[in-house]
Amino acid sequence: MKAGIFITGTDTEVGKTIVSAGLALCLRDRGIKVGIMKPIATGCYGQEDRLVSQDAAFLMEAAEGQFPPLHSPSRFRNPLSPNVAAMLEKKEINVDHILKSYRELGSHYDYMIVEGIGGLMVPIKKDYYVANLIRDMKLPLIVVSSAGLGAINHTLLTLDAATVRGLEIKGIIFNRVSVANYSLAELTNPKVVHDLSGVPILGSLPEIDDLQTESCKFGKLKEVFRERIQVDKILGEAFPRSLHKA
Ligand SMILES: Nc1ncnc2c1ncn2[C@@H]1O[C@H](COP(=O)(O)OP(=O)(O)OP(=O)(O)O)[C@@H](O)[C@H]1O
Ligand SMILES: [Mg+2]
Repeated sequence: MKAGIFITGTDTEVGKTIVSAGLALCLRDRGIKVGIMKPIATGCYGQEDRLVSQDAAFLMEAAEGQFPPLHSPSRFRNPLSPNVAAMLEKKEINVDHILKSYRELGSHYDYMIVEGIGGLMVPIKKDYYVANLIRDMKLPLIVVSSAGLGAINHTLLTLDAATVRGLEIKGIIFNRVSVANYSLAELTNPKVVHDLSGVPILGSLPEIDDLQTESCKFGKLKEVFRERIQVDKILGEAFPRSLHKA
């Protein structure tokens, strides 16, 4: 693996999977061998010994993933924070195993996209949060946020939590931003967040009408992502244009 990114968010359901998939589709288009990972997934379905993560399935489709067990090494049925789901389901979360899976999976790819669980301060086990996992994976991160009312507070809190823990922040992506009839908050919040934090805004994604997560249909996600998100800036110097095959 030459490089990678961790996609976190200000909240659950904010659009981490959609951003991860959009990036994977764009990188594949450039001829980059991209791997994906959802290191811990809760709210999984299916048989107990073969629990399926919808996020991992969607991302696998976007990245043409292989090596299935490594993509999602820690799965739980309950849609709860990992520590609580693990306790209820009487399972251990083995961080060493997750990190080993990450390294092994990464060895097959040029670039890894890792989707987080909820936000930075979601507990995985005692004294160990998603932020700790990002630090142990040694990855820079992108914060996915909404742009509407409340976004300034949520985004700044997340950036603060990352900075305090010494994490490298690549930038912010605002999701589900209206392209017509936008609110004043949506119009002004991205600039306010940038001015107050100094963190780069990598772009805004609008609502994509023909996107269907359950049936793994990407619709116009790739085209919209390419047009509106600064993919070159995400890849940065760790993965310059000269290394892209297309
Ligand atoms: N830009 C978008 N256009 C259309 N639908 C979207 C967009 N962004 C997110 N969604 C939809 O909103 C829902 C939540 O998005 P997503 O699954 O990416 O959030 P998440 O942050 O990954 O959530 P989780 O914390 O559960 O992993 C999904 O059903 C997804 O299809
Ligand atoms: Mg998700």
